[in-house]
Amino acid sequence: MLAHYLNKIIQGDCLELLKQIPANSIDMTFADPPFNLKKGYKSYRDQLALQEYLHWCEQWIFEMVRITKPTGSIFLHNIPKWLSYYASFLNQIADFKHWISWDAPTSPMGKTLQPNHYGILFYAKEANQLKFYEVRYPHKRDRKSSYLLKDYGGKKTILHPYGSLVSDVWTDIHRVRHNKHRDEHPCQLPIHLLERIILMTTDENDIVLDPFSGTGTTAIAAKRLGRNYIGLELDADYVQIAEKKLAQESSCSKLGDWWVSFFLNQVVTLRDEDWQYLQAFFDIPAKPQEVDAKPIVLKPTAPVSVPLRSHGKAVIQKKGQSDSWQDGLF
Ligand SMILES: C[S@@+](CC[C@H](N)C(=O)[O-])C[C@H]1O[C@@H](n2cnc3c(N)ncnc32)[C@H](O)[C@@H]1O
Repeated sequence: MLAHYLNKIIQGDCLELLKQIPANSIDMTFADPPFNLKKGYKSYRDQLALQEYLHWCEQWIFEMVRITKPTGSIFLHNIPKWLSYYASFLNQIADFKHWISWDAPTSPMGKTLQPNHYGILFYAKEANQLKFYEVRYPHKRDRKSSYLLKDYGGKKTILHPYGSLVSDVWTDIHRVRHNKHRDEHPCQLPIHLLERIILMTTDENDIVLDPFSGTGTTAIAAKRLGRNYIGLELDADYVQIAEKKLAQESSCSKLGDWWVSFFLNQVVTLRDEDWQYLQAFFDIPAKPQEVDAKPIVLKPTAPVSVPLRSHGKAVIQKKGQSDSWQDGLF
């Protein structure tokens, strides 16, 4: 049954489709549902009465938990208002891990504090069986001077040369802003946001499912990282855009033999346990204190394989083979 869905974007109502997926069969489920904020989707009217919206959400959340393996995780992206309802429901059927605060300015909503983050709820199906890997991201630096933004005081000698462990506050990933990088969709997520979640909670060949696939961000991230994906999406046009993009992707977001997440020409997320192998590909200053002054960079000979777009076609290139490497992934 599952084979029928694997590595496809299926067009239809996710509630009906999720019911056909066997229990305990998916490694990670991620949902970015409509936020009930009157967004202009093609097929869905994003304007339900409060109870109607919450009742609908409860139903697909229940299905997400049902299909997730006992070792698996469940992620829900939304504005804090809806996540507070989701959490009270989820606490009864899964194990709370984190409320990730993704620093991303949203539109003003009247007489309120300026909303400046989205939440990403992270639940384990079974906390004591959860598959989870610690991940690192590059240290935050002053744009002009390149010096570290945080004052590490006397701890600079033990500073990790690449970057910090990822916490539950994410300030380093920005929303897709420029139209030239966006599909015809009102709220597309950045691919490297999903890559971070996938690196944190799944292994190669695991299965990732997104019931609100949009133009395929989760599926693309999964494919780039050598995972299987299942996308569900109501709108036929969004399905078509996702399929077109997926046809141009390959599983090659790697540095050497290790899966990492790239944005532009930087490694933006890597697994802590892989650092022992990955460090050989970076130019690391001899004195740990020098990490304060400049970011470590990939060696020109680093075996990087990233999907590049050339005239609409994805090509695999090794770093150094082309000037266009700098153009990056998006
Ligand atoms: C917030 S968007 C997801 C965007 C996606 N994360 C991306 O990066 O492209 C929500 C999506 O859910 C879809 N949708 C709404 N109701 C649905 C349903 N019942 N079943 C499946 N998809 C649905 C909408 O068409 C929309 O594309």
